[in-house]
Amino acid sequence: MKITAVLLAAGQGTRMKSSLPKVLHPVAGKPMIWHALQAIQQSTTERPVVVVGHGAEEVTNYLGDSAQTVLQEPQLGTGHAVMQVESLLHGKTDLVVVCYADMPLLRGETLQKLVDTQKQNKGPISLLTVIADDPRGFGRILRKEDGTVTAIVEEYVATPDQLQVKELNVGGYCFDTNWLWDALHRIPKNPKKGEYYLTDTVELAVKDGLSVHATVMDSLEETIGVNTRVHLSEVEVAMRRRINEAHMLNGVTMIDPASAYIEADVKIGRDTVVMPNTYLLGKTEIGEGNVLGPNTIIRNSKIGNGCKVLASDLENATLEDDVDIGPFARLRKGAHLGSHVHMGNFGEVKDSYLAEGVKMGHFSYIGNAQIGANTNIGAGTITCNYDGEKKHATEIGEDVFIGSDTMLVAPVKLGDGARTGAGAIVTKNVAEDTLVVGMPARAIRKLERKPKKK
Ligand code: UD1
Ligand code: MG
Repeated sequence: MKITAVLLAAGQGTRMKSSLPKVLHPVAGKPMIWHALQAIQQSTTERPVVVVGHGAEEVTNYLGDSAQTVLQEPQLGTGHAVMQVESLLHGKTDLVVVCYADMPLLRGETLQKLVDTQKQNKGPISLLTVIADDPRGFGRILRKEDGTVTAIVEEYVATPDQLQVKELNVGGYCFDTNWLWDALHRIPKNPKKGEYYLTDTVELAVKDGLSVHATVMDSLEETIGVNTRVHLSEVEVAMRRRINEAHMLNGVTMIDPASAYIEADVKIGRDTVVMPNTYLLGKTEIGEGNVLGPNTIIRNSKIGNGCKVLASDLENATLEDDVDIGPFARLRKGAHLGSHVHMGNFGEVKDSYLAEGVKMGHFSYIGNAQIGANTNIGAGTITCNYDGEKKHATEIGEDVFIGSDTMLVAPVKLGDGARTGAGAIVTKNVAEDTLVVGMPARAIRKLERKPKKK
């Protein structure tokens, strides 16, 4: 059986007061419509179709290959929106699942139940409803005394009696296409707004003597639709709670989940502890047994196992195992710290590799550099990597000792076992096992390397 999702996303979203199309507003770091597409995947068999209108170009660009798009122009209501997909889908699908793209909390399992209900239904429509005290402007479900659904009335045309109805139309439908395509043409034009409402198909089915199934959902949270930024923040909080709970159930400890901000794509290994006010963003992958935060932002980064990251900011960085950084470390794009690296307060690393066991305790800037294993970077060391036009590389060998406040004027290389005195300004390459001092630093003697203390 072929089942196709149709997501409606052509509306203007006027109440968002935004130049960004509503369905592209992010929730947990991903556009609302991404969440809707994720949810619809498990219960459908074909590539989804998205009806676009306002901001069509931006939405279509965002979707890329993930969905086909159909333009609705002008936008004459939800029924009219579904009419636009008829030429694309006629004869190509047995069922269509129609959802609104502004409901990012609707779960895949709920849509699966909806489709399963319709598979058992001899009539042409199954839909999702919810019982709630606050109607939030939703359409009301009308039933006969025997419980059969007879119609959906929109709030602004409902009678005072109908307004009292607590069963609401969520906005998730599964239709049998043998009946649907023809029925769409029979939707009456709404006299007040001149629009064609998808919800009117319910009355049409009832008039045809066919049954409409309504599944009452038990989660009110899933049904939150975003019309304003207040709704957006409600959805964000609920999504965050959902994401955090999933991580905790997978073995991640959170001291205060309400202050752990973890975006949808982030992966975290077990026994990692997320401290308060920690942001894990973008495509971030975190291994096991780490302590992250408090007060830390990690974006698009990869972290191994057993690391400690305290009050730091990381972007496009890689930490191998047992790395210890912060407080106030800043890792920018291309920062790669090998295992057992220690980076203390007020350090910045960009486009550089610090090999295993490098120590960089205080106040340093390392850019466009390769640093060998077990080298010590003294407080205040700076790679002067930019000459005003170009970036230049610094290469530092293993077991090097860089004295405090050394300026390494790139391009420059320091051999294994070299040392610089405090305040050295290094403008020329330094040979292995050589101590340089002064400004500009010059060789003064040959050194003997001491065996490493363990
Ligand atoms: C709709 C339902 C209402 C339900 C509520 C749940 C109708 C007539 N009413 O009302 O019963 O309780 O959702 O949230 O369906 N859209 C288009 N093209 C259009 C108009 C709308 O693509 O011409 C899209 C919008 O982008 C949006 C969705 O359809 O994603 C719903 O439209 P909206 O205007 O928000 O409908 P509601 O008034 O909320
Ligand atoms: Mg709406």
